[in-house]
Amino acid sequence: MKPLAVIGNVNVDLIMGPAAPWPQPGTEIIVDHHELRVGGSAGNTALAWMALGIPFTIAANVGDDRFGRWLRDEFGAQAAAWPARPEGTTVSVGVTHPDGERTFFTTRGHLPHFSLEEARSALEGAGLAGGYALVCGSFLTDALSADYDALFDWLDSRGIRAALDTGWPLDGWTPANCAAARGWLARCHLALFNEIETTTLAGVGDPVEAGRALQARMPAGAIVVVKRGPAGAIVLDADGVLHEAAAPRVDVIDTIGAGDVFNAGFLAAFAQGAALPACLNAGVAIASRAISTFPRRYGAPLAGDAA
Ligand SMILES: Nc1ncnc2c1ncn2[C@@H]1O[C@H](COP(=O)(O)OP(=O)(O)OP(=O)(O)O)[C@@H](O)[C@H]1O
Ligand SMILES: [Mg+2]
Repeated sequence: MKPLAVIGNVNVDLIMGPAAPWPQPGTEIIVDHHELRVGGSAGNTALAWMALGIPFTIAANVGDDRFGRWLRDEFGAQAAAWPARPEGTTVSVGVTHPDGERTFFTTRGHLPHFSLEEARSALEGAGLAGGYALVCGSFLTDALSADYDALFDWLDSRGIRAALDTGWPLDGWTPANCAAARGWLARCHLALFNEIETTTLAGVGDPVEAGRALQARMPAGAIVVVKRGPAGAIVLDADGVLHEAAAPRVDVIDTIGAGDVFNAGFLAAFAQGAALPACLNAGVAIASRAISTFPRRYGAPLAGDAA
């Protein structure tokens, strides 16, 4: 299989819920679930790859505190050289709601300080030539995303193809954020955005047409995936041919990181040379599995649940 890497945000997620309605200030509510787990887009994708037994390289940083040490431990030897920031680890408390929505409270922490130099030193020597690097968490890793052009130059020079999933900007899709994301896409071989991100970026309401509009801004031969939540996902291949995958109906526990887990399944299949419809199915299957299991699981097929 071709080598895989992920470059971006790893942080701590504390998921609690479900909660409804939103509590009054000064009160306390009891919820059924809590789970403390590795989070962040890059963390979610890497966790799924680990669970699948897929070899990968991850470039990330942590805070210089107990959460930082815990995150480092989760990723073993390859996290040993991760830089530790004095600001402390970014922590995200995610409150789930009965309708599947969630609300996050997130500290800035270490993420904005992850640098190009640090990313390059984590990837250098990892034997990634001919492979794919997923670049994610763009709007949380401010220092790195300010240097994305140099990062894409570096990946190009090493024969590594970039896949991009920026995630949702904290300040929304402002004209500046849209312009930045369009500029980054022009350097990437794969786009892995969700439907609303795709339609917003393209300025086109229909997800297929929006995907085509993004593809037109990308290098020749680029592949565009649009993740559609309970409706599954679609992909436009290098020739613009559309493939679709429906998502199975599942009892959702929490959808946090669904898109990142999808990316892991899709890219693992892609790096193994699978055809795009099979990659799409792999992404949908692992994401559906992850969002409907507690504690979260990735590996076994959904049908195994009934056994
Ligand atoms: N409610 C759901 N029911 C079934 N499958 C779902 C549901 N939500 C998400 N999925 C699965 O997860 C995949 C990715 O989810 P989604 O389209 O929500 O990505 P995303 O918005 O990028 O997620 P994230 O919030 O992690 O960024 C979908 O393509 C689908 O396979
Ligand atoms: Mg997403």
